[in-house]
Parts: sequence; C-alpha cells; structure tokens
Amino acid sequence: MANKISRRDLIKYSSIASVGLATGVLSSTACNNDKNITDKNMKVLLVNGSPREKGCTFTALSEVASSIEKNKISTEIYWLGSEPISSCRACGVCRKDGKCVINDNVNSFVEKASLCDGFIFGSPVHFASASGMITAFLDRVFYSGRGVFSGKPGAAIVSCRRAGSTTTLDQLNKYFPISNMPQVPSQYWCMVHGNTPDEVKQDLEGLQIMRTLGTNMAWLLKCIEAGKKAGIGLPQYEARQGTNFIR
Ligand SMILES: Cc1cc2nc3c(=O)[nH]c(=O)nc-3n(C[C@H](O)[C@H](O)[C@H](O)COP(=O)(O)O)c2cc1C
Repeated sequence: MANKISRRDLIKYSSIASVGLATGVLSSTACNNDKNITDKNMKVLLVNGSPREKGCTFTALSEVASSIEKNKISTEIYWLGSEPISSCRACGVCRKDGKCVINDNVNSFVEKASLCDGFIFGSPVHFASASGMITAFLDRVFYSGRGVFSGKPGAAIVSCRRAGSTTTLDQLNKYFPISNMPQVPSQYWCMVHGNTPDEVKQDLEGLQIMRTLGTNMAWLLKCIEAGKKAGIGLPQYEARQGTNFIR
C-alpha cells in the first residue's frame, strides 16, 4: 500500500478491521494492515502505578508493550516509583499557567506525554481501587495537562490477586472519555490475576487480553496516522462550556 491512501480505502480498511474485531478473526499478535502506512516513529507510554517496579502490573504491561512493538511502534514503561505521591491541592494555579505547583515529576511527565501517541495506565488493585499513587498522579496530570492527551488513544489495565478488578477499571477508565481520548478495547476487560509475576504468567487468558490490547492500540494508531494522510485530521472542537449547577 502506498503512503497515500484514499478516503474510500480508509473506510474499507476500517470496516474490515471492525468486522475482524467483532468476530475475533484478527490475529492477537499483529494487526492486519500494511506497516508502510506508518512513516513516523510513534510511541506508546505505559504507566506502571504499582509500588513494585517489576511486579504483576509490570508483567502485564510488558505483555502489552511487546505486542505493540511487534507492530513496529516503540514503547516505554514509566514507573511511578515507590515513594508517596502528593494528591491534587485544588489550588487552581495549573488552570492559569498550565503547570502543577507541586515540585515532582508530574510536569515532566506531561511534557513527555506531549511527545507520545498512545497511553496505557496500569495499576494493581488496592482495596478494589487503583493504587493511591496512580490516582494522585493521574488526577494532577489530567487536571494540569488534559489538552496534551486529546485525540490520542488510551486504555487501562489492572492486576489483582482475586477481586476488585472491574471497579478499578471503572475508576481508571474515567480519564479517557473526559479528555477526548479514543478508548482502546481488547477481547475482554483488561485484567490479569496474580500475587506474583509468576502467577500472572500462569494467567494465560489475562496475558492474551494484554496482547490483544497491544494489537488494537497499534491498529488504532495506524488508522489515525492513515486518516491524517488522507486529510482527516484531529477534530476541531467548540470553546468549552462550563455549566455549574449552583449559581
Ligand atoms: C494495599 C493492598 C491492597 C490490595 N487489595 C486487593 C484487593 O482489593 N483485591 C485483590 O484481588 N488484590 C488486592 N491486593 C493484591 C494486589 O492487587 C495483587 O497482588 C497485584 O497483582 C499486585 O500487583 P503489583 O505486583 O504490580 O503491585 C492488594 C495489595 C495491596 C498491597
């Protein structure tokens, strides 16, 4: 396929891919399109919100990352560390100058995110919720830098020993639709089960869900790139309305 594709081709390929996803006929390790469609070095940033650097969340994120890399898109796993992260002070300063006043890695992360094309947020389940660290981190990242994520696909994944995975996904999946981010699907809700990396490696279905997520992320990024080449750029939005309920 040449680098330039027509709108008709784009619609055709999108609908083939949609049917493939709906019927599960696409391979779980490679997306069914021409890699020449990508002429830019795209990158997906994967956030590890566990205090354990190489634990279960990392194991799941690594599976997503290798599936994305198989599709010739680069990845980076960004660990939040094990030190406590300050929550949002609701001071509102970032709304004026675009930067968080707290002196940690939130501002540098937003800068890094501005250079990336897709995002995966990963967290262990802590009492049926996302870790306190990733909650504090993402609240501040999205309050101060939401515009950076607009039009870029994202997805969340979670790791738990036994339960609370869907409530945690519900929580993390709130960041995408409030930021104009297309949400990337998989064949099942994006969770793995295990208390140790070895246990996660035994969750064969969970790992397959991670690989399918990576495949879909790569596919969507290439569709967006192909769309740009065909003249379909990012949407133009109206100026934001803010309607508070108490006046
Ligand atoms: C403070 C804390 C709370 C936890 N709460 C839950 C829970 O509600 N449900 C569950 O299934 N596992 C729970 N776990 C276990 C972890 O979610 C599980 O071991 C996870 O896979 C660890 O991922 P990590 O190695 O990336 O940190 C909890 C662990 C900790 C440390």
